[in-house]
Amino acid sequence: MTVSLGLPAMPGRAPGATVDTALPPRPAEATGLLDRFGRVATDLRVSLTDKCNLRCTYCMPAEGLPALPRDQALSADEIVRVVGIAVRDLGVRQVRFTGGEPLLRRDLVEIISRVAALEPRPEVSLTTNAIGLAERARSLADAGLDRVNVSLDSLHAATFMQVTRRPFLDRVLAGVDAAAAAGLTPVKINAVLLPGVNDHEAPELLAWALQNGHELRFIEQMPLDADRSWDRASFITARDVRGLLADRFDLTTAVEPRDGAPAELFDVHPRHAADAHLAGRVGIIASVTEPFCDDCRRTRLTAEGSVRSCLFSHTETGLRDALRDGASDDDLAELWRGAMWAKPAGHGLADPDFVQPDRTMSAIGG
Ligand code: 5AD
Ligand code: SF4
Repeated sequence: MTVSLGLPAMPGRAPGATVDTALPPRPAEATGLLDRFGRVATDLRVSLTDKCNLRCTYCMPAEGLPALPRDQALSADEIVRVVGIAVRDLGVRQVRFTGGEPLLRRDLVEIISRVAALEPRPEVSLTTNAIGLAERARSLADAGLDRVNVSLDSLHAATFMQVTRRPFLDRVLAGVDAAAAAGLTPVKINAVLLPGVNDHEAPELLAWALQNGHELRFIEQMPLDADRSWDRASFITARDVRGLLADRFDLTTAVEPRDGAPAELFDVHPRHAADAHLAGRVGIIASVTEPFCDDCRRTRLTAEGSVRSCLFSHTETGLRDALRDGASDDDLAELWRGAMWAKPAGHGLADPDFVQPDRTMSAIGG
């Protein structure tokens, strides 16, 4: 069979409509996921579903989004095959499952155990809202899951409800406890602060995380929401986060190299005697104000099997149809390499002409 090679297309438009004719030729000897700016992707994010049981205001609209028809999402066999190609042939070393909410996939334990059995064994992690994690943390850890990141923006039921539009704080907290008890440690907590909603909670979230041995990371809100409510004038910046913590905690830059990780790490020094027992670290992810695109090592696979080279891409390269038409591993690897070669230099959020991608975070996979 023949497979058309690697030119990214806009979802919903005729393939080839947006071909970037300015792309330089890709060096034939490059086996990994190299882009034209010299970056090599070794960290794969796989979205397992676009469905979610929360409706976080910075991601989903209140009424939800139309779900991908089941036959259009990759099956467990297809995911394991594609991730296997990434790990064996394309140099991917870390695999993170995301969504939507990946715990909504009934075959999650099977997918994780099969991916953890690949050679060379990738590091396997999960980004989840933790609803249902209390029941499944142990079996996920037994299947080979190494770590979890839990999204949690508030410790107060009313504020949690305001951010997520769902009353499930207790289930999330139970999920976090279960993950720690199952050894999925350190549990990383992702918090997005929204002005006037939960920004005042920053010190309390940090105290709670340190007290419980979790690693908290504050993430700047990015324009990836369906409601298009992101406002460059008022989102909470990394600098704001440091200011919000300053009454209770001093932060000093941690010496550890970032090594491609988006979070800048700080050692936390409590300012008050009552907090003296709270030691540890906090991460701040300044995706908007201090972009780390130059050092980006990520490649993404959507739930329907398309490669996205960047969260903010306006193009994607579908693998699913080739996969279902009998493409070989080499064909699929070559499609993937072509998709990554076209990766943009950066997200361009600072550019006044920035255009938000059509897809929300729930459809791309954080
Ligand atoms: N900006 C920043 N972070 C976001 N997330 C979802 N939407 C956004 C956004 N617009 C986060 C979630 C989750 C992770 C996958 O991405 O909180 O932790
Ligand atoms: Fe669901 Fe995550 Fe989006 Fe919240 S941010 S609605 S948990 S996919």
